[in-house]
Amino acid sequence: MTAPHLLSPCPAHVPADAVFEFDIFDQRLLQDPHNTALQLLAEAPPLFWTPCNGGHWVTTCYQQAFTVLRTPEQFSSGMLSPQEMSKLEAMIPADGPRIPHPVPVMLDPPEHTRYRQPLQKVFAPKTINALKGDIEQLAHQLIDTIIDDGQCDFITAVGEQLPVQVFLKMMGLPLDRLPEFRELVREVFAPAGANPHDQLLRLRNIADVMTDIILERRDHPRDDLISRLWELQLDGEPMTFELMEDYCVLLFLAGLDTVVNAIGFGVRHMALYPDFQQQLRADPQLIPEATEELLRRYTMTIPIRRVLTPVQLGERQLAENDKIMTYLPLADLDPAEFPEPQQFDLLRENKRHMAFGMGPHRCLGSHLARLELQTLYHVVLQRLPEFRLDTAKPAQFHAGQMLAVASLPLRWD
Ligand code: HEM
Repeated sequence: MTAPHLLSPCPAHVPADAVFEFDIFDQRLLQDPHNTALQLLAEAPPLFWTPCNGGHWVTTCYQQAFTVLRTPEQFSSGMLSPQEMSKLEAMIPADGPRIPHPVPVMLDPPEHTRYRQPLQKVFAPKTINALKGDIEQLAHQLIDTIIDDGQCDFITAVGEQLPVQVFLKMMGLPLDRLPEFRELVREVFAPAGANPHDQLLRLRNIADVMTDIILERRDHPRDDLISRLWELQLDGEPMTFELMEDYCVLLFLAGLDTVVNAIGFGVRHMALYPDFQQQLRADPQLIPEATEELLRRYTMTIPIRRVLTPVQLGERQLAENDKIMTYLPLADLDPAEFPEPQQFDLLRENKRHMAFGMGPHRCLGSHLARLELQTLYHVVLQRLPEFRLDTAKPAQFHAGQMLAVASLPLRWD
């Protein structure tokens, strides 16, 4: 096991029985993140303090994650305390590059609502449903490229291509820079170094790859998302270049990684369980429900909040500016909410998973993500013969604030 990142002394308000050492970047999570997290946290209290990565609370049960995400007046999405903010500002040279501020995900209501509302139009079901034909066509093209080979790394060949190409096309960004763009997103989700300014510069790098295109679309609009964002107004005020950067950075982070991982975990589950493949091939109408149960079983994101004023959560007293990580992959495997949670069960009564978050920041791209997942599963099961994991090349994963599938070698006859 590697040394936990940035092990910190526990603050005075954290009692000894609340401390449990858990590093979200623990190398053991790279084997099989969900099942390993369940094992590593089997003895942990439902809400505990870890000294790793600077020290923070972790909630693993459903109800506490639900409370945290639905109470923004108590648990803020603005991750930096006023002291941290001034420290950081002192580090940023006055004539240095502007640091983008991903909106609306880092804002709290009512400001959050003001910035989220315009985006809702852009991701409305009607707009997204119009993409179905293109997504289906692309899925077929991608399967054409692998079907005769009898094997592939499903992530590089299909899982990453489909959602990332759809997203880049939606945004109007060049498809041939896909590997470079994916790398920029990986850097943002990698462990933060000792200098928080470096982390912020990673956001700048993302904005930089879009600057020319943002400006070009302002002067010569096309039929793409960046041009449509320029048309938005906030309280009657026209869009600014800075706000365009902020929106585009968030969409870039949200659009380039999440669906890839959902596909990775979903298709891996199908490869592990041939009977399940068989069931879906025999009755494709089950695919929408299977997609939801796969999202629950393999929830990937881990949103963080900052405590605004001292508050009691469960048995614990949280102090102002404490950070709290809602470990949603385990919230959706909480037996109190989902009986026999590790079982994949299409007949589950409770289907209220938190893969897309909860409360005011609930995912704006969920409709697009569902459309991509369901369409791809349909085409894969229709076109590929029964597939299995390649036993010679085990799948690889990333851990951290997002559980991710890095490679998924598959074989078929
Ligand atoms: C399976 C795929 C996806 C998953 C699991 C997912 C998950 C999430 C989660 C958990 C949040 C809440 C974050 C928080 O509370 O701090 C979120 C927010 C968000 N997601 Fe997604 N997401 C997915 C796909 C997408 C896609 C494809 C897009 C757009 C291209 C997108 C755009 C957004 C945006 C804009 C927000 C911020 C909403 C706000 O702050 O009000 N997501 N997503």
